[in-house]
Amino acid sequence: MGKVLVIGCGGVAGVAIQKCAQNDSVFTEICIASRTVSKCDALKAKLEGKTKAVITTAKVNADSVDELVALINEVKPDIVLNLALPYQDLTIMDACLATGVDYVDSANYEPEDTENPVWRAIYEKRCKEKGFTAYFDYSWQWAYQDRFKEAGITALLGTGFDPGVTSVFSAYALKHYFDEIHTIDILDCNGGDHGYPFATNFNPEINLREVSANGSYWENGHWVETKPMEIKREYVFEQVGQKDMYLLHHEEIESLAKNIPGVKRIRFFMTFGQSYLTHMKCLENVGMLRTDPVMFNGQEIVPIQFLRTLLPDPASLGPRTVGKTNIGCIFTGIKDGKERSIKIYNVCDHQECYKEVESQAISYTTGVPAMIGTMMVLKGLWKKPGVFNVEDFDPDPYMEALNRWGLPWVVDENPVLID
Ligand SMILES: NC(=O)c1ccc[n+]([C@@H]2O[C@H](COP(=O)([O-])OP(=O)(O)OC[C@H]3O[C@@H](n4cnc5c(N)ncnc54)[C@H](OP(=O)(O)O)[C@@H]3O)[C@@H](O)[C@H]2O)c1
Repeated sequence: MGKVLVIGCGGVAGVAIQKCAQNDSVFTEICIASRTVSKCDALKAKLEGKTKAVITTAKVNADSVDELVALINEVKPDIVLNLALPYQDLTIMDACLATGVDYVDSANYEPEDTENPVWRAIYEKRCKEKGFTAYFDYSWQWAYQDRFKEAGITALLGTGFDPGVTSVFSAYALKHYFDEIHTIDILDCNGGDHGYPFATNFNPEINLREVSANGSYWENGHWVETKPMEIKREYVFEQVGQKDMYLLHHEEIESLAKNIPGVKRIRFFMTFGQSYLTHMKCLENVGMLRTDPVMFNGQEIVPIQFLRTLLPDPASLGPRTVGKTNIGCIFTGIKDGKERSIKIYNVCDHQECYKEVESQAISYTTGVPAMIGTMMVLKGLWKKPGVFNVEDFDPDPYMEALNRWGLPWVVDENPVLID
């Protein structure tokens, strides 16, 4: 059916590419392009003989629009799947605009250098106007709406698990279970154990930035900001057990607040163990989470990037991680004049993921929806000119695809609610 150009070849891309290769009647050609081409070549070699898809590789620096445009013109893909880092979202969108190719990603834009004065001025204005201080927000990518529309191409933003599947769960709940949704609590539980004292289960820089930032939630039309980890709850997760979870700011709150009409409150909670939190606080206190350059032995280094070189590569956690993830959403609202609450969730087993694609469940639960979102656009099911979040489209074909491609979901019509 079509040719996909995947940019990035890390933990998430590794899974998405293997799922595209399994789905070779849709993805007939796959070009894997990244900064370190040896990783792309290794994945290509691993897939040899296991798929009918034709696989090629290329080297690209996705910070350069010119390099990306040259690559897209050479490869001529039907669609670009961006699984590099959020830092590259805008350059890749620019390249898609210049070449007239559809764009898909799994995380919204965040600048690499948060001390850049031009970005900082816009950021500080946004903090004041909107009331949340996260470094990432959708304004940068939503600003491409008119240009994508005029170019007649689609940008599908945020097709991972959260954002992604959680947002599709929201659209599905609204379509089939509610006349009005009043509250959404997104619960992200990783009950996995990798045996290290400290490691992050996806890109450490992105993960630690997210977790050490202020929390926030949406209530009655505005943002309420909290100190990092200020709001804690306990919850018993199906197939995992009881865990502590903490309220974080998360990107899908912003798009769901815009796209779910009448929603009164949206919160996001993630589970963390005490050891993870103690390590993180210590790293933060000594300055290791800083994102600005500091001088070391006559050379500039960015502490959080240096830290990344010390921590286990998330891609290496697969063989050692046991246990399950349980990620989903609790919805409350009204159906046929009566109050109702449901929970939609998926449980994913780290070791089962490893058996299938040699990856832990965090990359798996992101990589599978990245493939599915790309398939939705490629098949024309979710294709219209402009920039869209996943909840803008009909959730049904995506929900079906989750069941088929390894992330089956459950609807609990009598869930325990969170105060
Ligand atoms: N929505 C969700 O549920 C969810 C969950 C987890 C992650 N994510 C997102 O998924 C994306 C990938 O995460 P990950 O854990 O797979 O990260 P990762 O393992 O660090 O992989 C990132 C990949 O991007 C490549 N890359 C980085 N900068 C590049 C550049 N300038 N040009 C070309 N390639 C570049 C890296 O190449 P090198 O090997 O050369 O460094 C690497 O292959 C991130 O945007 C992350 O935020 C989304």
